[in-house]
Amino acid sequence: MANILLTGASRGIGAAARSLLEQAGHTVIGQSTAGGGGLIAADFAHPRAADALWAQALDRAGAKGERRIDVLVNNAGVFEAAEIGDADGFAATWARSIAINLQSAADLCRHAVLHFQRNGGGRIVNVASRAGHRGDSPKHWHYAAAKGGMLAMTKTIARAYAGQNILAFAITPGFTMTGMAEDYLSSRGGDKLLADIPLGRVATPEEVAETIRWLASDAPASLTGATIDINGASYVR
Ligand SMILES: NC(=O)c1ccc[n+]([C@@H]2O[C@H](COP(=O)([O-])OP(=O)(O)OC[C@H]3O[C@@H](n4cnc5c(N)ncnc54)[C@H](OP(=O)(O)O)[C@@H]3O)[C@@H](O)[C@H]2O)c1
Repeated sequence: MANILLTGASRGIGAAARSLLEQAGHTVIGQSTAGGGGLIAADFAHPRAADALWAQALDRAGAKGERRIDVLVNNAGVFEAAEIGDADGFAATWARSIAINLQSAADLCRHAVLHFQRNGGGRIVNVASRAGHRGDSPKHWHYAAAKGGMLAMTKTIARAYAGQNILAFAITPGFTMTGMAEDYLSSRGGDKLLADIPLGRVATPEEVAETIRWLASDAPASLTGATIDINGASYVR
């Protein structure tokens, strides 16, 4: 059974993944912005917060001298609107989105790769978004750019380190019924958006969590570098 560092474990997809992974017998070291409930606090809006999180997570990952993280799941994320008419707000929202949605994931991947190189390998699962392929709404250029960046980063890591048994996968959910999607769906007319999804409904957090669980443990090594879409056929590539 694996020691798994999971970001954004407090709610939504992350909370569902935490409970599925624990049911499967894994040890989950979880993070949220404020901590509590056994989670480590880390606000990725702050530079180097991911470095501090990695150090604290390692402290929880076994006895001294045997500390080992086997899997990193980068799931934390924010989806905030940026108005193009507001220069200051636009720049601030871009900086915050890139820091939380991309840079913190990159920092954690850096630690994970160095750690996995010393320990004979490991897995990285990056939760990106359909937006990383398809783009997003007019107020969310930054979100699509961050998630597209995450896809490119995941492929780069997979290609660079596969020979060292370091595997990297990405997941691209479409709308998933969590706090993040609820506001968006209601603000943009839920029914019209649903008409765009051939399956006729948005994904559940449990469906995305099951995809995370599979990639974190059972997916074959030859899948490394792959991006798994989970969007009810709303975007097929
Ligand atoms: N829901 C969707 O429709 C959808 C679609 C495509 C992709 N995704 C992606 O799936 C992932 C999970 O989404 P979700 O819908 O489950 O989101 P959610 O319900 O809004 O939960 C977001 C998680 O990220 C954490 N987080 C937020 N701001 C943070 C910060 N500044 N620093 C550190 N952690 C922070 C939250 O912690 P706190 O509870 O402490 O705030 C929470 O655990 C995200 O990467 C998202 O982009 C979601």
